[in-house]
Amino acid sequence: MEKLLDILGGEVRKAFREAGYDDSKVTVTVSNRPDLCEYQCNGAMALAKEAHKAPFMIAEEVIARLEGSEYFDKTECVKPGFINLNISNDFLASYLSEEATADRFGLETEKQLKVVVDYGGPNVAKPLHIGHLRAAIIGEAVKRLSKYTGNETLGDIHMGDWGLQMGLIIAEMQARGMDRMPTLDELSEIYPAASEKSKNDEAYKEKAMDITNMLQHGNEEYLKIWRHIMDISVADLKQNYEKLNVSFEIWKGEADADPYIAPMVEKMKKDGYAYESQGALVVDVSEEGDAKEIPPCMILKSDGASLYTTTDLATLVQREQDYDPDAVIYVVDKRQDLHFEQVFRAAKKCGIVPEETKLSFLGFGTMNGKDGKPFKTRSGGVMRLESLLQEVYEKCLERMKESGADMPEDEIRDTASKIALAAIKYGDLSNEARKDYIFDIDKFTSFEGNTGPYILYTMVRIKSILRKYREGGGASDDAKILPPSGDTEKALMMTLAGFAPMISGAWKDLAPHRICAYIYQTANDFNKFYHETKILAEEDEGRKKSYIALITLTLGILEASIDILGFEAPEKM
Ligand code: ARG
Repeated sequence: MEKLLDILGGEVRKAFREAGYDDSKVTVTVSNRPDLCEYQCNGAMALAKEAHKAPFMIAEEVIARLEGSEYFDKTECVKPGFINLNISNDFLASYLSEEATADRFGLETEKQLKVVVDYGGPNVAKPLHIGHLRAAIIGEAVKRLSKYTGNETLGDIHMGDWGLQMGLIIAEMQARGMDRMPTLDELSEIYPAASEKSKNDEAYKEKAMDITNMLQHGNEEYLKIWRHIMDISVADLKQNYEKLNVSFEIWKGEADADPYIAPMVEKMKKDGYAYESQGALVVDVSEEGDAKEIPPCMILKSDGASLYTTTDLATLVQREQDYDPDAVIYVVDKRQDLHFEQVFRAAKKCGIVPEETKLSFLGFGTMNGKDGKPFKTRSGGVMRLESLLQEVYEKCLERMKESGADMPEDEIRDTASKIALAAIKYGDLSNEARKDYIFDIDKFTSFEGNTGPYILYTMVRIKSILRKYREGGGASDDAKILPPSGDTEKALMMTLAGFAPMISGAWKDLAPHRICAYIYQTANDFNKFYHETKILAEEDEGRKKSYIALITLTLGILEASIDILGFEAPEKM
């Protein structure tokens, strides 16, 4: 569907043309004085000089041509030459009726792209911690947004599974004389112990590094242990991500990039991009006009070992070969932005990725506690993901009991976990990803205010009205949306008409927080409308059906939006 603002803008531009003016710079925008009008156009002001006419006269000529337009109920010029506009209620109603039945509420697919979203990035054999939560939440939302926009999209977890932690675990197993494979529980104790030991014991650390190196060079014995660790860890990771309603199409990791490294390095050398510097192999990636210096991208260390940059570049080689993507989006802690800048530049410079492939880095900030420091448990330790989920879940359970929720015990539990997920995800996603934010359990789980539970509460309210309507024998299939009967209804309609442009904007800027802002606005608009409207008690049957169609559309849009954000609404709460 054509965007509302484009239709209105087109109509006004046509009037400028008909009045003999150049319309190329004329735009219609949402009014910044909603007390005066809904839309405004300042085009007459800009044309005054070149037309040698007072802007007010130009505006009047334009308005004369908008007389009787089906798109506007009010067209007015205000000194010195502003054009104030109100949309036609009839047109708005017919636009919404069309939106209600259109595929994806009228969102148009531009050009279908092939997109890889690289997110998650857990480090195998290390526990999932809060730092990985944001990657999972934001990455999943970006992936779903890409899919909703019509792109063929693959999420790749890109596990850290090839690093020193593997060598440390094997070294510790040897030190303990372990002659069997570790269990998951043992693993979660072995790694921290080994990591701690390596900090004070140089020889131990060196041993772990040797083992890592041998593993990476195909040592059979170590590979066998590695495979075992991978198997039990991946099964555990899958369970954890499932609890977050996060899933990946591709379960690859750094290790999968390994076979691509040697040929990639050969080619970089042969093409003259990679050269030796102090024993290491590097590629220059600084560019003219860089505001700060971008150091060379290191490809191999002097001992021939590969690095984080190497695996990321080799992963791009693999992705090109396997999927040939139009875009690769990385959702990773913003502190890694220099790393990705180097990787992107090296990938383009060395021809690993074609010039037209879009490589984007969506860097996110830190999740802090109320004290402004990185989030900790109640007892002060680093928070594990499971304990955080549990804590929020219990809080939601408590809130439901407080508000007198009356349902069977298993439904209460199911509902509380849905609310908990909404609280966590909305609490995170409603902030601009780059910014740090404060994780405040009390605030995030509140049923009021700009929170996930408030959005769910609003949806549950609509569901309950629709349920009662159906139970009373009402059908809503062919209902048309009528022109609004009041201001709050019109405000809700205008917001609903903005769904498709909001989605395109959020995708273009990789900004899921816009979806949160939009649904918060929608929920507020709906609640205002609801408080002053007797929906089910409405006597005029046509009007009542129109209300039902309008709130059905509201619910549909909220449902599509929270599905993109990665959570869902219960039936009751
Ligand atoms: N494993 C990394 C970490 O925990 C994140 C991986 C991000 N993705 C990537 N392609 N480098 O910091």
